[in-house]
Formats: sequence, structure tokens, C-alpha cells
Amino acid sequence: MKPKPDQTPYEFWEEVYEAASPKTSGKPSAVLERFAAGRAPGHALDLGCAKGDDAVWLARGGWRVTAVDISPTVLDYARANARRHDVEDRIAFEQHDLTRSFPQGRFDLICAMFLQTPFSFPRHAIVAQAASALNSGGLLLVVTHGSAAPWSWADRDHVFPTAQLEREDLELARSDWSDEYVGAIKRTARGPSGQTADVLDNVIAISRR
Ligand SMILES: C[S@@+](CC[C@H](N)C(=O)[O-])C[C@H]1O[C@@H](n2cnc3c(N)ncnc32)[C@H](O)[C@@H]1O
Repeated sequence: MKPKPDQTPYEFWEEVYEAASPKTSGKPSAVLERFAAGRAPGHALDLGCAKGDDAVWLARGGWRVTAVDISPTVLDYARANARRHDVEDRIAFEQHDLTRSFPQGRFDLICAMFLQTPFSFPRHAIVAQAASALNSGGLLLVVTHGSAAPWSWADRDHVFPTAQLEREDLELARSDWSDEYVGAIKRTARGPSGQTADVLDNVIAISRR
């Protein structure tokens, strides 16, 4: 789906989610599970939380979570998801356009899972701002598309930067951060009509010293 001419990001994402089912997969991202499992729970921040499966999984694992999205409609879906799993009191849902405002607080885990949008978007600056709100020992997990699924809005000739290049663009000094994993991970993605395709995800998992 592409934005209509003159549509704002808020209007675009509201339209996307108003047309979507509130149903969720009920499963967290495999990458989040891989890198967050086993960490001592603290305060987590999920940027672009959508229907909340990652936030709910974290909350069920003992984390206190701040879950942020631009779309009030999807935050309602996420809140209902949290209620179904009896963790609504562990998640603060906040509506932010991250290009304009950012949640308060300090965090032990920050994830930006596919915080991507078909608008011009200062994602590196937002992730760098998030990084400065991370406590020492905390994990920053950034996942972006490393290739396009056939149903993606990305142009066919779009060239995806590598995870290593994305890591450099964040301008986070190597002396302050230790890289746990920076690279691509293959995943079988499911499209809007249930179709599947193998795609690459660029994963940056780095912890603050
Ligand atoms: C591609 S979806 C990814 C959702 C989810 N994290 C996932 O892994 O499936 C991007 C999400 O970012 C949100 N988003 C887009 N632009 C935003 C902005 N400017 N501020 C806050 N959230 C935004 C969208 O509403 C959407 O839920």
C-alpha cells in the first residue's frame, strides 16, 4: 500500500490499520525472542509497536514496557491484545509521531522492529535518540528489511543497505557499544493474502557498555 498524494503519515497509518483486522499472530518476532530471551527483565521500549505482539511477549516475560505507535487505532488493537493476555497493567501505550515527540524515561531494552514507513523518515536520528535513553548494559535491537518481499511497497530497484552500513549510520561509538550481532538473517515472510516468500532481515543487536 502506498500513501495517497497529500496524505500525512498519521492519515496513512490510520487508514492501514482501520482496514486491518485487529487479530494478531500472537507470536513475538523470532529475532526479539532470540536476543531478549534470558535477559533480566527491566523497562523495555518498543518503537512502532503495531498490534503489540512483541510488547505483550516482553510483558509476559516480566518486563515493564512502553509501547509507541503513531496510530491510535493500532494502539487500541495492541491494548486489547495486552488485555487478552492479562498484561495491560505492565504496558504503557503511548501515541507519538516519533518525528515530533519521544517517550520519556530510561530503558534496559529498546527495539525498533521494522520502524519503516513509505515517507521520508529520520529513522537513524530517532534510533540514535533512543540509544541515548538506554541504560548501561541495555540492548538496542534494530531490525529492518534487507530485501523486499514481492508484496512490499519498496520499488523493485531499491537497493537495501547492509546491516553493517546501517550500524555505521547510527554513529554509535564502538568504544561505548558492544556488537552482539550485526548482519542479515533469513526469514520466511507471510504476505497480506497468506502468500509466503523468503526475505532477509538486517539485524543490529548492540549493547551499551
Ligand atoms: C512496518 S510497521 C512494523 C510494525 C511492527 N514493529 C512489526 O515488527 O511488525 C511500522 C510501524 O511503525 C509505525 N510508525 C510509522 N511511522 C511512525 C512515526 N512517525 N511515529 C511512530 N510510529 C510510526 C506504524 O504505525 C507501524 O505500526
